[in-house]
Amino acid sequence: MKAVIILPTYNERENIVAILSQLTRVTRTISGFSFVFLVADDSSPDDTAGAVESYKGNRRDIVIVSGKKEGLGKALLRGMLYAVNVLGCDVIAQIDADLSHDPSALPKFFEKMRQGHDFVVGSRYIRGGSIPDNWGIHRKIYSIAGNAIVRFGLGETRVHDWTGGYRVYDKKYVERLKDEVAPYSGYVFQIAFLHNAIKLGANVGEVPIHFTDRRFGHSKIAPSEYIRNVLFYVAKERFSSVVHGTFGKFLVVGTIGFIINTIVLELLVAVGAHPVVGSAVGAELAIISNFFLNNSWTFGHKKIKSKNIPPKFFQFNGTSLGALVIQSGTVAIGTFLFGVGMYRWFYLLGVGIGLIWNYAMYSRVIWR
Ligand code: GDD
Ligand code: MN
Repeated sequence: MKAVIILPTYNERENIVAILSQLTRVTRTISGFSFVFLVADDSSPDDTAGAVESYKGNRRDIVIVSGKKEGLGKALLRGMLYAVNVLGCDVIAQIDADLSHDPSALPKFFEKMRQGHDFVVGSRYIRGGSIPDNWGIHRKIYSIAGNAIVRFGLGETRVHDWTGGYRVYDKKYVERLKDEVAPYSGYVFQIAFLHNAIKLGANVGEVPIHFTDRRFGHSKIAPSEYIRNVLFYVAKERFSSVVHGTFGKFLVVGTIGFIINTIVLELLVAVGAHPVVGSAVGAELAIISNFFLNNSWTFGHKKIKSKNIPPKFFQFNGTSLGALVIQSGTVAIGTFLFGVGMYRWFYLLGVGIGLIWNYAMYSRVIWR
């Protein structure tokens, strides 16, 4: 099996040779794999590439893949594609080049891979892992809270470290995710890549790691931009998982129906119609909208064939009438028992029960 270790570098001249030689040593203890070290450099002004060239000599297991500076995500993706498409590897490892990640932990990652995991992440937030003691309280809180927001925000609590860059994974995740993750050019790439791998069913393993502060050079992270990107990513994923789930779509369609109903009622009343007529016409137009939007979107995977549309639409009107009865019935019973003043609460309760009724009818009867 062939493994490629990607080292993203931007101005890591003072670190790159030390980490390459440590990696060279430690990988000799990992059996079953041949290793290539891939430096994904962005034409660093400090000539990191030159330092690698002179250390490399005639070794063929060290390659430099240069590009222009477009962010950590872009550099990682460039390295990944080169590793898979040009070097033909089976497994990819990635590690920060500034020695914040200890190369001697690498065998544990490969041990996890051998145990059947196909995506192994280094975790600072599990037993045996750590962030630096010398970090100020603010930095510690940022780090811990940031990870917790991602972890709970995405609802994937099995993984404890989402943002780190010390990982080993199967090459299939590069092949299957290269387009999906391409837009994430910065540090948020780490989150997007792991999250999408989990969505594809990755069997994630964690190795505890100690993160130490770099001794040479400085961090390239831009905290405020990073925080914004992370929050945006989590919010976007949350929103789309709700909207793309059947129930979320059902709610969206129902809201559109409610808006149609209200607008039609108001328009008809404005031109002199009786509110009862206005609300009946509005309700029927909302029913039509609900039926066709649910058929083509919410339950698009169980779409009703055109010859079955008339009877199904008739049935749909019946279940909608059911919701109307539930709603008005709830208001009637509630106001009878607790007084007319309470009508708004029972209206809300009626709408809630009506929603459950509708969703049950749609998924169990209409779009069975
Ligand atoms: N080629 C390239 N291009 N490399 C980059 C770039 C870039 O634009 N930006 C950063 N790097 C390289 C650095 O040279 C280093 O080897 C590694 O990526 C990590 O960058 P640092 O600048 O040292 O980041 P950090 O230590 O502040 O960030 C750590 O924590 C982040 C959040 O938890 C790293 O572990 C990140 O991977 C992690 O996302
Ligand atoms: Mn660093």
